[in-house]
Amino acid sequence: MSMTVNSSDADQVIAHYQRLIEISQQLNSTLDLGSLLKKIISAARELTNTEAASIMLIEPSTGDLRFEIASNIAVQDMDEIIIPKGSGIAGWVAQHGEPRVINDVTQEPSWSNRVDDTIEFHTRSILAVPLRTHTKVIGVLEGINKIGGGGWTENDINTLNTLASQAAIAIENARLFQQNDFIAEMVHELRTPLAALKASTVLLLRPDLPDNRRHDIITTMHSETERLSRLTSEFLDLARLESGRARLDTSRFDTNKLLEESVDVVVQQANDKNIAVSVQCDSITANADRGKIKQVLLNLLTNAIKYNREGGWILVSAKPIINHENLPYIQIAVQDNGYGIAKEHQKHMFEKFYRVADTAGFTQGTGLGLAIARHIVEGHGGQIILESEVGVGSTFAFTIPQAVR
Ligand SMILES: Nc1ncnc2c1ncn2[C@@H]1O[C@H](COP(=O)(O)OP(=O)(O)O)[C@@H](O)[C@H]1O
Ligand SMILES: [Mg+2]
Repeated sequence: MSMTVNSSDADQVIAHYQRLIEISQQLNSTLDLGSLLKKIISAARELTNTEAASIMLIEPSTGDLRFEIASNIAVQDMDEIIIPKGSGIAGWVAQHGEPRVINDVTQEPSWSNRVDDTIEFHTRSILAVPLRTHTKVIGVLEGINKIGGGGWTENDINTLNTLASQAAIAIENARLFQQNDFIAEMVHELRTPLAALKASTVLLLRPDLPDNRRHDIITTMHSETERLSRLTSEFLDLARLESGRARLDTSRFDTNKLLEESVDVVVQQANDKNIAVSVQCDSITANADRGKIKQVLLNLLTNAIKYNREGGWILVSAKPIINHENLPYIQIAVQDNGYGIAKEHQKHMFEKFYRVADTAGFTQGTGLGLAIARHIVEGHGGQIILESEVGVGSTFAFTIPQAVR
């Protein structure tokens, strides 16, 4: 009898390690930080059989720990939770670079229920391990509440530790990749307007230049400097969003007011092209970063104007919905009857610098607006989608959290 039990135990351990190797391979091939972090916490939960998991990363400037992702914390609550350097269980793990096992938090003096109170979650047990690269600890990976109630096993501790060391390297790689990729693209994009400006100044220096030519050149210089300044500020926005350094400043606000206010900003631009803009929205209270959501809306609205024909129309609407996790969200849609976007371009639409050649040819832009929009929306736990047909028009719709009473 005991033979059978032992061999099935051994089978389990082998299957477990095989799964760990599989997961490590997946982690190393993921260079997008957001999806990497998601994979890490879902692997942590699966491998140690726990209710929830979270990742905190060390803020280099202060040494504090900040929640990057947590399966039991809503995105909009995450910002408010910062664990000061060295404090609490996670702080201890980050400082000492060693795991901590707490099978019953009520018996643990350094445990504080501050986070639980913020998110209405009941923590019973914690297994916290350092995220350690070759040279330093960059954060903490936590499993919370062992399923089944029993304590953490030796196997859980070893497994989470192994996962954490793989995860730390993958996180470092993703961060480095982001930076290099970004700097290369940025330099490339800045070159074009800079070359135009340089050529213009050379022309302006010619004494034989007729006055009407001078005027044209100055107009070009003006629009190229505008483009440069838009590029640099959008670059910075996107760099902050991609590195996870952009913080959401959430508050409750009326969606209808925000839509009206955003339409007001672009109404002149729409009038110039004879485009009618209408708003259809009940008064729904959102809980989100108002400034950033306005930025998303303004980009969708200016796109709907820029890539529209004379005399077109735009409809901006908002309605309450329940998202896939059963949470109350608001769906905001910007619909136009402009040129539309062909199927083969649609899947690339939210990539940075992507512009459709035949529409982009005659309008100014950076190709960053939709990439920024996607980051902002996903940062709120929402989604942005596109439906479009060439010659008919496009609808961009995104979701943001609704305020709960
Ligand atoms: N409403 C729309 N209708 C048609 N094409 C669009 C629309 N919105 C965006 N596009 C296409 O998507 C590209 C990327 O948009 P965006 O990221 O906002 O960059 P930009 O507007 O600076 O070019 C645009 O260049 C355009 O080709
Ligand atoms: Mg745009």
